[in-house]
Amino acid sequence: MIIHEASSVRGTLTVPGDKSISHRAVMLGAIADGTTHIKGFLNGEDCMSTISCFHKLGVKINIDGTDVVVEGVGLNGLKPSSDALDIGNSGTTARILTGILAGQPFDSIIDGDDSIRRRPMGRVIVPLSELGANIKSSGGKCPLHISASSLHGGEIVIPVASAQLKSAVLMAGLYASGKTTVTEPAKSRDHTELMLKAFGADIQSDGASVTVSHSAGLKAIDINVPGDISSAAFFIVAALILPDSEVTIKNVGINETRTGIIDALREMGADITYSNINGDVEPSADITVRHSELHGITIGGDIIPRMIDEVPIFAVAALFANGETVIRDAGELKVKESDRIAAIVNEFCKCGADIKKTDDGMIIRGGKKLKASDFDSYKDHRMAMSEAVLSLTLPGESSIKDAEAVSISYPGFYNDLNSIRN
Ligand code: S3P
Repeated sequence: MIIHEASSVRGTLTVPGDKSISHRAVMLGAIADGTTHIKGFLNGEDCMSTISCFHKLGVKINIDGTDVVVEGVGLNGLKPSSDALDIGNSGTTARILTGILAGQPFDSIIDGDDSIRRRPMGRVIVPLSELGANIKSSGGKCPLHISASSLHGGEIVIPVASAQLKSAVLMAGLYASGKTTVTEPAKSRDHTELMLKAFGADIQSDGASVTVSHSAGLKAIDINVPGDISSAAFFIVAALILPDSEVTIKNVGINETRTGIIDALREMGADITYSNINGDVEPSADITVRHSELHGITIGGDIIPRMIDEVPIFAVAALFANGETVIRDAGELKVKESDRIAAIVNEFCKCGADIKKTDDGMIIRGGKKLKASDFDSYKDHRMAMSEAVLSLTLPGESSIKDAEAVSISYPGFYNDLNSIRN
């Protein structure tokens, strides 16, 4: 993919549905009683992997563009799959589906692509085993062999703030006897909790702890998926760093467990405003962004889980900020679709950026003169999109290897970027 420099980005656009909410809508719809209607579904590759796994588990799902209808089979209605469930590149499917399958009266195998086979799964096996699950892995990695088990509730403490692990435990908790509590070191995205409540589960949150009770059944609902703030973030940063830019992104999810990127950019001096705020189960708003002078900041601690997927594009913003930006407590980035700390440092330094890698993040000195480059996405969708935005600012022509990785979360990304660039 060749990307030419742009003078500005201007216009209004919508981004595809939220990836986390789309996965959960299919999963909970599948195990609910009745029919779940989903609008605004993200039909990127990751969420399609979730749909194909539930097809194999005997659930009828109809897809018509971004409208999806899930014929729920009830908590105990899933059927064993005759072959391994292919989760493709999707870590979210891997972890949360494992939580659901751990409580079934049949065996399952979960496997995925090369990137998934490198990602840690021990982190989900350990807490589920504490509830009585029986899961064998290949040295803590996929493929996972999940054996039929009956689960019991318990008090689970997970060592990393991870919505995937928390959600796996909560899903297993629906099947476990009694109550299941999961506690994280900091609160991660709470889409599972909000959606479980809407489906009628008995669930309570208290800070970074969540308790769910054994469920006698979930009731199907209608779900409107807002635009994904993780996708909107690419256009937000493009508008901030290119002179004379103004972009409005309509109907974006602004759940506060996801808006760390907005808080961090505003602290840097970004002009970002919300309008048309809609206070649904998952709140949304139109987001307007204008080109701004940014200054470096230090981020770490509880804000990191609230912007974990946005760190690559946040690093792009930091390249255009005056002074130093320090990112701490972000060691989780090493186990994403690629090692994103290494990927950011290796790739952005190609164009002349000044970035120092640290154990749990990086230090970025902004304001350097940058040049056009040939970037590698490491087949990581969010690296590819961050490199595309960075390329808009580089004089001449840059290129991105394995640029099609964007299809994981945003199949129309390059078209949408072209629609607002000048
Ligand atoms: C997700 C949780 C996050 C995030 C991922 C989606 C989810 O992962 O990085 O893109 O939908 O629960 P972790 O739970 O591993 O932090």
